[in-house]
Amino acid sequence: MGSAKGYLRDHGPMVAMLSTQIGKEMGLSKAERSELFFASVLADMGMVGLAEDAWENPVSELPPDVRARVALHPERSEERVKQIPHLEVMAPLVRHHHAWWDGSGYPDGLAGSEIPIGAQILRISDTVAALRQQRPHRPPLSSEEIIEVIEQSVGTEFGSEVANTYLALLRGGDVPGYELSSFRHTLLRVAQHVLPDEVSPLSSDQLLGIVSNLIDAKDPCTGGHSRRVAVLAVAVAEQLGLDDRMKSTLWAGGCLHDLGKLAVPLRVLAKKGKLTEEEFTYIRAHPTDGAEILENIPTLRHLTTVARYHHERWDGSGYPEGLSGGRIPMVAQITAVCDSYDAMTSRRAYRDARVHPAAMAEVARCSGAQFGPKVSEAFLALPEETFEASRAIKPERTERYSRNEPFFQKPSHRGSGRLSRSG
Ligand SMILES: [Fe+2]
Ligand SMILES: [Fe+2]
Ligand SMILES: [Fe+2]
Repeated sequence: MGSAKGYLRDHGPMVAMLSTQIGKEMGLSKAERSELFFASVLADMGMVGLAEDAWENPVSELPPDVRARVALHPERSEERVKQIPHLEVMAPLVRHHHAWWDGSGYPDGLAGSEIPIGAQILRISDTVAALRQQRPHRPPLSSEEIIEVIEQSVGTEFGSEVANTYLALLRGGDVPGYELSSFRHTLLRVAQHVLPDEVSPLSSDQLLGIVSNLIDAKDPCTGGHSRRVAVLAVAVAEQLGLDDRMKSTLWAGGCLHDLGKLAVPLRVLAKKGKLTEEEFTYIRAHPTDGAEILENIPTLRHLTTVARYHHERWDGSGYPEGLSGGRIPMVAQITAVCDSYDAMTSRRAYRDARVHPAAMAEVARCSGAQFGPKVSEAFLALPEETFEASRAIKPERTERYSRNEPFFQKPSHRGSGRLSRSG
């Protein structure tokens, strides 16, 4: 979320730094603060592909259908957080981060001390971080203006304990500005309190699945794309007789090759008509953006080449660097052909065998121009079962954008994590 362009830039990390600070001031333990930190970063994960652009506008001006979609994001984030090993305990915080003290928040309409304390801290940090940033309809708010907003919102949006803690920090000049480097530093530090030493969750297949689902959720038309590319890429590697290390790079690389799409505004990705030059700039940046994220994660650094070069073309007309021929790393060449095949066969709602022959013909036609000859030859020789296996991968689930039940229904369950204690 921190990599998003425009008004969302660094929002999650800002919220995390602030909520951790408020948590410290309120006497939360290191472990609790660490949970709060991760919950803050992950709380809006459910917004990906849902209503991201809504963040650029004041809530009061959003059309009702967009508002309804926005209201779904805490539950969507919660579902994703529950899938992440060791982070499940944060689910209640994520679920209730839009609960308001007076009960008018969502999704369960919890009120007052029913709201987990961690979620209360997240709520105020979220609001403050947003107010501190510029929006199309207003400049960033000054500290004095923020104090005014918070004071007016005690008893409605915020409880007095959390609000007073924040106000004391702010009046004492103890709230530092946001810095990416200190965020990264804190991230590594708090990870120690949440993750057991022996765990490297970022290399696990489970997490690859979670992140690839998140990437694919960004563009609902192509659900399951990343995993299908991964399946095909491993099969091509097998066909070429590549070793296990290359295969595992292609598997993980396939899952994450479009990571940078998380930073592309939804309005650009979902646009039906022709893209403007400015919009194209966003698309062209996704390989580099993805590579830059991967470069910073030691266990995933080896996937950088896949992300960076999967849109290069054999004849040098691709992006971002215009590499040509054998200068394009093999793993990127393989990913490119699988990526294009899946794009060709996914574009239609009735994805089935009917489009397969046409896509294969296109791969053959573009061999030596868009695709490396050796790689496209291997691709064209893949057995039918491989394509069946890739076709069997469907979007994780279809989103319900409208619901019959009221948004502000009373809670059906309460959280159980330590931070979910009310107070
Ligand atoms: Fe949110
Ligand atoms: Fe891509
Ligand atoms: Fe792709």
